[in-house]
Amino acid sequence: MDFLKTHITKVERPAAGYVLLRFQNDRPIEGVPGQFVMIRGEWGVDPILPRAFSLVETGSKGAVLVHAVGKGTKLLVQMEPGDVLDVLGPCGKGFSLPPAGRRPVLVAGGVGVAPMVYLAENLLRDGHKPTSLFGGRTAADLPLHERLAASGELIMTTEDGSIGEKGLVTGPLERLLKEDKTVQLYSCGPEPMLRAVARAAEAHGIPCEVALESPMACGIGTCKGCAVQAADGSFLYVCSDGPVFDAVDIYGGTK
Ligand SMILES: Cc1cc2nc3c(=O)[nH]c(=O)nc-3n(C[C@H](O)[C@H](O)[C@H](O)COP(=O)(O)OP(=O)(O)OC[C@H]3O[C@@H](n4cnc5c(N)ncnc54)[C@H](O)[C@@H]3O)c2cc1C
Ligand code: FES
Repeated sequence: MDFLKTHITKVERPAAGYVLLRFQNDRPIEGVPGQFVMIRGEWGVDPILPRAFSLVETGSKGAVLVHAVGKGTKLLVQMEPGDVLDVLGPCGKGFSLPPAGRRPVLVAGGVGVAPMVYLAENLLRDGHKPTSLFGGRTAADLPLHERLAASGELIMTTEDGSIGEKGLVTGPLERLLKEDKTVQLYSCGPEPMLRAVARAAEAHGIPCEVALESPMACGIGTCKGCAVQAADGSFLYVCSDGPVFDAVDIYGGTK
């Protein structure tokens, strides 16, 4: 797999500190929800390593949602149409499809919404009716929520109550898991949220896949810099074994 030269075609700003970068490539990047790309701008040597971003759209026109947290992402959110990006991908393994009779429920937190939007839109296209739960601190932390709403039922939560239900996303999740044992969970977001979602899934005997966003360097399985300790004590590599894992493999429990 080689880096592709791509051009930014559009920059959308769905919320403060977030940009949706749309880019066009000569060769399509055919990814599935949960897969990611490694991206580097033409900004000289610092930062030297590319950064990982979940695919929101793929094909000859791709899109990623970037949340500015450090050097690389702060440079990316300042990019303009016409700027060049080096993009490697699709990397890693994506989400599995829900088995027949299972109701897909997606749980997103923060920038973890990126792969959930792609998954929700794909599920809808395949005839499923996904339910999405999306949580943030305030209304400003829920980028792209309109796209989740357009793909099925959406329940939003905010810690300050500025939009949706007041509290954490695990509140409506618990309610939903009590009512419906046919749920298949998919989740991406901050580590404490993923752990809580995995715990709820385990308590209700619900299958759950989580997409991890741990720091990584090469993105293709060579540097061994993205190791996480699995529930059984072994090490898994987020870029090549994941980033999507069965929650039980990471957080423990019974399959
Ligand atoms: C598979 C995968 C998918 C991802 N998808 C997205 C996405 O769709 N959109 C998005 O905005 N980000 C995503 N990330 C996270 C993104 O790669 C990091 O935020 C980015 O690498 C930070 O680079 P930086 O140069 O801005 O920050 P740095 O200057 O390298 O670090 C700044 C701060 O951010 C912390 N940090 C660095 N990497 C991460 C990380 N992975 N998670 C949490 N904190 C981190 C550092 O510890 C430091 O405190 C994803 C990560 C992975 C592994
Ligand atoms: S990031 Fe290099 S092995 Fe995973």
